[in-house]
Amino acid sequence: MALLPILRYPDPRLHKKAVAVSEVDDSVRKLIADMAETMYEAPGIGLAATQVDAHQRVVVIDISEDKSKLLALVNPEILARSGEQVCEEGCLSVPGIYEKVTRSERVAVRALDARGAPFELEADGLLAVCIQHEIDHLDGKVFVEHLSRLKQSRIRARLAKQARITA
Ligand code: NI
Repeated sequence: MALLPILRYPDPRLHKKAVAVSEVDDSVRKLIADMAETMYEAPGIGLAATQVDAHQRVVVIDISEDKSKLLALVNPEILARSGEQVCEEGCLSVPGIYEKVTRSERVAVRALDARGAPFELEADGLLAVCIQHEIDHLDGKVFVEHLSRLKQSRIRARLAKQARITA
């Protein structure tokens, strides 16, 4: 396994739309394993392949306390959504920024697992937020793009300042 570098907003590669995986083979399983290691190391609760500059529709999520419930979603698709929730979100590609985003309260998702087997999942609360956030990444959308243009430009200015300080 290997740690992968995570793209930082506003890197334009975060806006690429990921393509569907045609076959869940060993290279996809290696990507899943490397993404999981990168997510746990960061640490974070979700990571999309887009964030590690691999533009395939692959997501890893683990919202468990003890990091024991890795969920890998290949070609995830939201089949149904209902309700509304507001959650403060952060993102490994937007370090240090936490903002409230409105999303669906419940989602039903269909995906392939790491063996290529199809499965369906119903999620609510934090897991539902995480799934929607990661699928957004696959579509080239970063969570701050749910915010007002004013807030987005403030965030970009803050990140540019941080980059200058750490450079
Ligand atoms: Ni993110």
